Amino acid sequence: MKILVVGSGGREHAIVEALAQSPEVRKIYAAPGNGGIREQAELISIEPNNIEAVADFATAERIDLTFIGPEMPLSKGIVDAFRQRGLVIIGPTADQARLESSKIFAKQFFKKNGIPTAESSECSTPAEAYAILERSKYPIVIKADGLAAGKGVVIAENPADARLTVQQFMQSKALGEAGSRLVIEEFLEGEEASFHVFADGPHFQPMVAAQDHKRRFDGDRGPNTGGMGAYSVDTILSRQQQHAVLQRIIEPTLAAAKSYSGILYAGLMLTSAGPKLLEYNVRFGDPETQVILSRLKTELLDVLIDIAEHRLPSRKLEWRQDAAATVVLVTSGYPGKVETGKQIFGLEEAKRVEGVKIYHAGTRFGDGKIYTTGGRVLNVTARGSTLAEALDRAYFAAQMIEFEGKDYRKDIGNKGLAKQR
Ligand code: AMP
Ligand code: GLY
Repeated sequence: MKILVVGSGGREHAIVEALAQSPEVRKIYAAPGNGGIREQAELISIEPNNIEAVADFATAERIDLTFIGPEMPLSKGIVDAFRQRGLVIIGPTADQARLESSKIFAKQFFKKNGIPTAESSECSTPAEAYAILERSKYPIVIKADGLAAGKGVVIAENPADARLTVQQFMQSKALGEAGSRLVIEEFLEGEEASFHVFADGPHFQPMVAAQDHKRRFDGDRGPNTGGMGAYSVDTILSRQQQHAVLQRIIEPTLAAAKSYSGILYAGLMLTSAGPKLLEYNVRFGDPETQVILSRLKTELLDVLIDIAEHRLPSRKLEWRQDAAATVVLVTSGYPGKVETGKQIFGLEEAKRVEGVKIYHAGTRFGDGKIYTTGGRVLNVTARGSTLAEALDRAYFAAQMIEFEGKDYRKDIGNKGLAKQR
């Protein structure tokens, strides 16, 4: 089979690596890929949002199956375009992708289907927003309706900060059109968890749970980022919580979102009143994928083919009963502006640490060397028989890698370790 994976992050590297394990896979292409993905795939310099160019490539190369990493091409209708051409692709249609691409659409969907979530109001003018802020309790959460690459959610501690956020989103257009409508919602307390399922609505197969670390600095301080690390172990959700998530969140969603196919990722808050849904993503999380796929024993390709052929329930997915952790190595200015083009050293040594895989994100290959190209550079991922062992291995390998400005969080997985004590 010839496979095309669209995207260029650590998530896509983990997906390519998992697909490369299947003997049926003859060739993998990645558009555009990165400096690590090139070891297993041929890199194609096509931009993921250039849907026509991606579809032309898949047609010309007779690609058997295409998998999309990021949300933007899904929300722009890449699945619709491929299906029109009779090409096999895994993912939701643009219409279904509104579960991620419009927070207003998503909240209306949750309410209509009785899915537990934060209380919220919507607004499309600054006057409406200011009126809601007048009668709210603080802290409060303000969310831009559209896709904003992780910058569209602000937790305001007081009315002054909340008004400033509304002013920036709606009047100064800090996020462009994404901020022209808002969701203003109740602040929920608890621990967060990422829960993914493989879906071919109404059927689905749950994946093991993971926890992301969104804030830039240790102790969950500093600005939100794309994700600074993640871990996966079976103690993230209790049996009761897992049952509630499946019954009250996933099942009603996939019953209502007719024929939703691909990956559905629920961002959960584990509150004292049970799990509540913060948001859906219509794709794999990054860096959660790196730890989730580390624990998947079943071949990923088989599951994707099951989805494409509408026989997802026919296979029992097998998961490793161990733990996995990933530490994201960033360039120090991230999530702000960073310097790029720095050579990376120590990758070969780090790769040899037992249980470790290095997934590349912002890297490129040139004249036999690997250079940085972005804020999130590498994901040092490890499996272990316990969470503590996985973390020890990942951190041991992380300190073997060097590049100018290298930085990383030192407390990945601490909440998980504390829960086990
Ligand atoms: P979202 O894009 O909706 O997942 O929001 C991004 C991050 O903001 C989440 O991962 C949470 O850390 C935080 N967040 C979003 N909504 C809420 C809420 N209602 N209560 C508390 N934190 C929230
Ligand atoms: N790790 C969070 C996300 O992928 O949205």
